Amino acid sequence: MLNGQVAIITGAGKSAGIGKAIALKLVAQGATAVLIDIEKSAALMSTIKTINANGGKAIAMECDIADTNQINQCVEVILRQYQRIDILINNAGISGSVPYFLDISDDVWDASYHVNVRGAAAFCRAVIPSMLTQNKGVIVNNASLCGLGAINAVPANYTASKFAMVGLTKSIALEYAEHNIRCNVVCPGVVNTELRKHAMERIAAKENISTTQAQELEDLSIAMRRAAEPEEVADLVLFLSGPDSSYITGAALPIAGGMAPGL
Ligand SMILES: NC(=O)c1ccc[n+]([C@@H]2O[C@H](COP(=O)([O-])OP(=O)(O)OC[C@H]3O[C@@H](n4cnc5c(N)ncnc54)[C@H](O)[C@@H]3O)[C@@H](O)[C@H]2O)c1
Repeated sequence: MLNGQVAIITGAGKSAGIGKAIALKLVAQGATAVLIDIEKSAALMSTIKTINANGGKAIAMECDIADTNQINQCVEVILRQYQRIDILINNAGISGSVPYFLDISDDVWDASYHVNVRGAAAFCRAVIPSMLTQNKGVIVNNASLCGLGAINAVPANYTASKFAMVGLTKSIALEYAEHNIRCNVVCPGVVNTELRKHAMERIAAKENISTTQAQELEDLSIAMRRAAEPEEVADLVLFLSGPDSSYITGAALPIAGGMAPGL
């Protein structure tokens, strides 16, 4: 289905993250995957080894997406090697902060803006010229249910950055639709990854409960009474990356097991 297509997935370096799950799904459909993360960790290199050992095609690249120069250099290398970029998945993101608005420093605001918003925008800016040449391209951003509404104990800087990602998606979708470049954003609720573990620690500290209790309380707030697995989010990203979603652009799709997006 994606044979001959080149896909970039940012934030694919964790062994149990959403980025890795997305990369595996895209590769299984025949895409060549470029897995990007802030460092070439052992987990990232192990994913690459597994993919290539199983007949898939993948390479790893180190890139701090808070640094636009690094993004531009990375895209240059990819274009030199493959002459095309068909799919960009802006998945990398950071959440860490404190739940109280008054305690969030400028540095924390800057970090979430630089990674979650400007990093994704800079990656779009770097790949869109080649997509325009091809008259074809797909961008899928990974925001959060917090990009659709504020959720208890989620830091304001994270929520604001994810709202911005939804806005970025819609602006790009509108501007490039006539060039056959689609741009959509997925809005996961709670997903079982390291990032969730950190969020549970934050909620536990705020509510003075254990992390297990925090997780049980969160599960209860989800209509399906459980978090998603990374592969379930990856399935939606795969759908939005391929021909079955050929008439969908500018959509912000919740994937949250019926969890409400909050205020
Ligand atoms: N886990 C959840 O519950 C959840 C819910 C909604 C949305 N999301 C979003 O899904 C995406 C993936 O999250 P995850 O849960 O797999 O988290 P994760 O922490 O496992 O993965 C995030 C990845 O982004 C990378 N990254 C961070 N800063 C970077 C930078 N400056 N340059 C390059 N890479 C960088 C990290 O190294 C990591 O590999 C994030 O954007 C997150 O906000 C997660």
